[in-house]
Amino acid sequence: MSDGPNQTEIVDVARTADPSRGSFATNFGFIMAAVGSAVGLGNIWKFPYITGEYGGGAFVLVYLGCIAVVGMPLMYAELIIGRRGGSDILGAMRNLAPPGSAAGRLLSYLTGGMAVASGFLILSFYSVVAGWALHFVAVSLGVMPDATLGADGTFKAVSGSKSLSTIWHTVFMILTMTVVAGGIHRGIERLCKILMPVLMLMLVVLLCYVGYTGGLGQSMTFLFEPDFSKLTTAAVLEALGHAFFTLSLGMGAMVTYGSYLKSEQHVIRDGVAIAFLDTLIALMAGAVLFAIVFSAGLEPEAGPGLLFITLPKLFVEMPFGVIVSTGFFLLVVFAAWSSAVSLLEVVVAYFVDEWKFPRTHATWIFGGLVWALGIASACSGDVFDFLDNVTTRYMLPLGGLAIAIFAGWFLSEKDQVSGFVGYGKIGKVLEFLWLVTIRYITPFLIVVVILSKTGALDGVLKETPPEQAEPAVESVESGESGESGESGESGESGESGESGELAD
Ligand code: PFF
Repeated sequence: MSDGPNQTEIVDVARTADPSRGSFATNFGFIMAAVGSAVGLGNIWKFPYITGEYGGGAFVLVYLGCIAVVGMPLMYAELIIGRRGGSDILGAMRNLAPPGSAAGRLLSYLTGGMAVASGFLILSFYSVVAGWALHFVAVSLGVMPDATLGADGTFKAVSGSKSLSTIWHTVFMILTMTVVAGGIHRGIERLCKILMPVLMLMLVVLLCYVGYTGGLGQSMTFLFEPDFSKLTTAAVLEALGHAFFTLSLGMGAMVTYGSYLKSEQHVIRDGVAIAFLDTLIALMAGAVLFAIVFSAGLEPEAGPGLLFITLPKLFVEMPFGVIVSTGFFLLVVFAAWSSAVSLLEVVVAYFVDEWKFPRTHATWIFGGLVWALGIASACSGDVFDFLDNVTTRYMLPLGGLAIAIFAGWFLSEKDQVSGFVGYGKIGKVLEFLWLVTIRYITPFLIVVVILSKTGALDGVLKETPPEQAEPAVESVESGESGESGESGESGESGESGESGELAD
């Protein structure tokens, strides 16, 4: 591999972004911010429980394949569109569309509009879930009273209370808006440069802890010993869908972050690092969670309630349970915070770049609107489920499809190859593989995922396993894991359940 591309040549041909937009000061800062976006509730909540539901090792293997075949090519596509387009998602695509191509322009507007809407809608309910994690931190620290029905009743107490859910959602949105208002370098980069290493350190400490308290061996076997008899078509589709969500693809988060890069010199290397760290963190979180579950003699198929119902109950019985519980839920909050920041940044960048809003105004106005919409999700499980389903089942995959088509068929060759330039012969091979994948394989697989979610392939594909058929809301609320027998006491009906990508 050669030293890297000829910097001047590349900078010359790239659109020079407006310097007042801000940029990441260091490459490390960019990687931490992008990893911060990727690592979120998807890693610490969703990955472990879907792995539990789909039987462990074989699912993990398919998931790794999906990250490689769908995730990484799309990650490169998003970063290169952002970097070369030098603007928000809509502007970047419009800037790069072939001159005079009505289809290219139309695709830019449709994809950009949908991506901004996705960021707006996803953040509204993502923040509610992050708020619940904040509540668990407060309860673990003793700042808030414990639920009378015990640790596993705490989830019912918060998700069933409209006022409590709204308060925590408000706190979380203020945290998110404060960072985004601070700008790319002083806000997002600074936060993620601290949060991500702390998060990884906390995970390592937790791994050592479960190594000591027991269950780690069993957990590793569960995660890494594939049993292909457990693999179903539904599991493969789930793995594919999750690869998107976990890498923050399909709604322009990586396009937006890519637009703040100073050069495309390291896009390939950075993309690989982001996907690698995201996967590593998901696997570490899974290893910790399952070790706790196994050491308590429980089964791994707890479903969406694994994080918020099963674990809190086990924490109280563990040595140093208060510290472990606080640390663990802080970890969830940190992961969600750095992801939420990227969701809001997609929206804010759009209004700053396209409508010339000052950053602070855009942040507080549109963050405020997200907050207002989030109250509906905090108060109604139906709104929550609806938004979750529409965005993560349809909008993200559709966004990914549009970006793949744009990158594969509309980008100029110069833009397409710019990230591969400095890699000599290997670069040429990678370039060819990427082009074939992004033109044919990625779109095909995404169409299969979308069709399967609409039920159009029901006759063609095998049955979904029983766990999948259950509506997620019920799984969470009834503590489906089987060991949280008690039901919540909050009589309020507004329980927010989760489904779709977050918990379907
Ligand atoms: N990747 C985040 C997670 O795994 O929780 C979720 C996410 C963040 C999706 C940002 C999309 C996005 F733009």
